[in-house]
Amino acid sequence: MSRYNFDEIVERRGSCSSKWESAPGGGKLPEDIIPMWVADMDFACAPPIVEAVHAAADQRIFGYSHFPDDYFTTVSDFQKRRHNFNVSTDEIIYTEGVVPALSFAVQALSEPDDAVIIQPPVYYPFFNVARAKGRTLLENRLINNNGYYSIDFDNLEELAADPRSKILLICSPHNPVGRVWKPEELIRMQEICQKNGLILLCDEIHNDLIRSGYQHHSVMELFPDADNVVCCTAPSKTFNIAGLGASHMFTHNKEFLEKIRAVVGYTSSNPLTSAASQAALSGKCDEWLDEMNAYQDMVFSRFYELVAEYFPKAVATKAEGTYLAWVDVSAYTTDTKALEKKILDECHVYLEAGDAFGGPGFLRVNLGCPVSYLEEAVRRVAALL
Ligand SMILES: Cc1ncc(COP(=O)(O)O)c(C=O)c1O
Repeated sequence: MSRYNFDEIVERRGSCSSKWESAPGGGKLPEDIIPMWVADMDFACAPPIVEAVHAAADQRIFGYSHFPDDYFTTVSDFQKRRHNFNVSTDEIIYTEGVVPALSFAVQALSEPDDAVIIQPPVYYPFFNVARAKGRTLLENRLINNNGYYSIDFDNLEELAADPRSKILLICSPHNPVGRVWKPEELIRMQEICQKNGLILLCDEIHNDLIRSGYQHHSVMELFPDADNVVCCTAPSKTFNIAGLGASHMFTHNKEFLEKIRAVVGYTSSNPLTSAASQAALSGKCDEWLDEMNAYQDMVFSRFYELVAEYFPKAVATKAEGTYLAWVDVSAYTTDTKALEKKILDECHVYLEAGDAFGGPGFLRVNLGCPVSYLEEAVRRVAALL
């Protein structure tokens, strides 16, 4: 019996929600929008998070703040409990988001003439992070075998051997294709990095969003003694607090810690954010997380059924992690930007074209929502197609 009601409709219009209100290119989304784009969820946060933010608000003054004494211990205990690795509190760097954290790491650990390897289709800010301040972007495209994605290790070997290569930036689990990399895949990537003197910079923001039958392995768990590994996580996707902006970067390499801290500079605590983040990671929300993942398994199953029934020519990738579905619609059209616009204009459903991720011909669908939203979206889009 579930303690939480993930079918609940929480009204988000009028709350300045980007997902519900911001139209592409500016302006407002229609009132009856079903937004299945930007990656936050339409589920109410676990009660301990809301209570912690209320308690912080009841203080009534929001002055400059430091982190609660046990904040970083809470972060490190969460990793031990949920991800089976040890990180000491002085090996954690706080930033206000994973994308800034990745940029800080690239700036701190590479030189302008160096190259950063990414593996598209991938979360689109990776392209800019890798190109930042003169760095060269090298693309090792994933191999798509009828909807199952894998790594092109031969090409990765070649790119890693390029003398300019300095960083392999990976997404684990991988947004948007939903792969939860197997230990052997991560080990092979790390072997290639070590052989060629590369840093393995890993974005694990989706690490707690895992479909039943799969297991995420952190690079911190697999390579506890490595000195070339930097890992970025956050409570934001996991506990639906992305608007508050808290993220945690880990590395055991002392020199990296110093260099990254020098680029990040002074970080103060936002009292509302720290309260939410600490409550989220404290253990009081673990049950909510497990139930939310079980609910997501159900939403994904329903999604595959509906795609098969209403869009038989589409190929939905089987998501192993994340709450994002990745669907090959190239049998319908290859102009997915135009399809995104048509579906938005005519159905008031906002699905993202894969183009920006390096995957034209695909749509990315955010399934972090009550199943009723999915059913209504499919009803509208099926009528159009
Ligand atoms: C892989 C990945 N990294 C980072 C982010 C965003 O992180 P933040 O909002 O903490 O900068 C997202 C959001 O969708 C993501 O999917």
